[in-house]
Amino acid sequence: MDAPVSWQEFAASAARQASNLHFSSVAAKMRGVHERIHERHPLIERLAVALYDPDLKRLRTFVDSTDSGTSLRAYECPLADVPSLLAIAQSGKARVLNDLSAAISPDSPHSRWLLHEGYRSSLTVPIMRNEQLLGFLFFDSRTRDAFPDDVVADLLLSGHLIGMIVTQELATVQMLVGGLRLASQFAHVRDLETGAHLDRMARYARVIARELAPAHGLSDDYIENVFLFAALHDIGKIGVPDSILLKPGRLDDAERDVMREHVAMGVQMAERLINDFSLAGLENIGMLRNIVSAHHERMDGSGYPNGLAGEAIPLEARIVATADVFDALACARSYKTAWTLDNAFDEISRMGGAKLYAPTVAALLDCREEVEEIYRRFQDDTRTH
Ligand SMILES: [Fe+2]
Ligand SMILES: [Fe+2]
Repeated sequence: MDAPVSWQEFAASAARQASNLHFSSVAAKMRGVHERIHERHPLIERLAVALYDPDLKRLRTFVDSTDSGTSLRAYECPLADVPSLLAIAQSGKARVLNDLSAAISPDSPHSRWLLHEGYRSSLTVPIMRNEQLLGFLFFDSRTRDAFPDDVVADLLLSGHLIGMIVTQELATVQMLVGGLRLASQFAHVRDLETGAHLDRMARYARVIARELAPAHGLSDDYIENVFLFAALHDIGKIGVPDSILLKPGRLDDAERDVMREHVAMGVQMAERLINDFSLAGLENIGMLRNIVSAHHERMDGSGYPNGLAGEAIPLEARIVATADVFDALACARSYKTAWTLDNAFDEISRMGGAKLYAPTVAALLDCREEVEEIYRRFQDDTRTH
C-alpha cells in the first residue's frame, strides 16, 4: 500500500477539483440542456438519467427533465431484471425504439410506467466512463418515430454533454466524500469499526430515504446525498484520543463526555471544509452538516449534543441514525458481540417511536430482504474480534 495521505491533503485535492465548477444542481443543468434540445427537436419531451451501482448491480433513477406529466422518482431495480438495458450496457451502443408499445414487453415497472405516461418512442444511451457503466440516459417522446437518424446523431452529441455533466458532478462530490471518508476510515480503523460498517450503513440509509421519498417528497438528489454523506457521520472521531477510542469495555462518565465531543469536532471539520473550499454553494451541502451534527439525537429528546426532539431533528439525521444503530446492533463492536439479524430487527423495531423515527424504522423493516442482501454483500474481510 502507498504511504497514507492525510485527510487534509485529500480534502485539498477534492477542493481543487471542486473550485473549477459552478455549483448549480445537475437537475438545473439537465433542464437547460433539455430546453436547448427542445428548440431543435420539440418532440423530445423527456430526458432522464439513471445511475448504475456496480457493487449491488442495481440501477436507480437520478435526475430527469419532463415537459408534462409525472416524473419517475425513487425507483430502482437490479439491472439483470431489465434484459433490454443489460444488452445496451454490454454492447455499449445506443438503442432507438420507434414504437414502444410494439417493441417492449412491459417487463419492468419502468416500461409499464413509460407506456402508461403515453410515451411512444425512445432513444437510450449508455453512459460509460473508462469502459465502466455509469448509467443510462433516456430521451422519450409521446410521438411514434420521433428518432430518425439525423435527430439521433444530434441527440448523441447532447448525450455526450449530459454524460459529462453527470460524471463531473459525481466526481466532485465523490472526491469530496472520498477525502472525508478516508479521514473517517482512519478513525474507524482505530475504533475497530471498519469500512464495511460505512458501506453497509450508507446503503441502509439510501434504502430508507428511497422508501420515505413518496411520502416526504424527497428528490433523487436528496437520496443520493443521504447515501454519500451518511458514511461521514463520525468524521469527528478522528479527534478522539486513542485511550478512549480504543478502550475495551464501557467508558466511564468523563470518558463518555470526551467521546461525545466527536460530534462537535465533526461539525467543525465539516464547517471548515465547506468554508475553506467554497463548498457552500453545493446543493444539499447542509445535509452533511445535519448528518454530522444530529446523528446522535433521539426522538424523545434523550440524545446529544443538543437534546433535539421529534421533527426538530433534520430528516437526514433521523435516517442516518436508524441505519447506524441498526448496523451497530447487527455487528460486533469492542464492547459487544454481534447480534443475530433477527434480534437486531426486533430491537430496532422496539426503538421506533421513542428513540428512532418510526417511519425510518418501518422502511428498514419493510425492506428486510434488501437489507439482508446488503448485510451479506459488505462483510469485513478481516474480523479482528
Ligand atoms: Fe457518532
Ligand atoms: Fe457509525
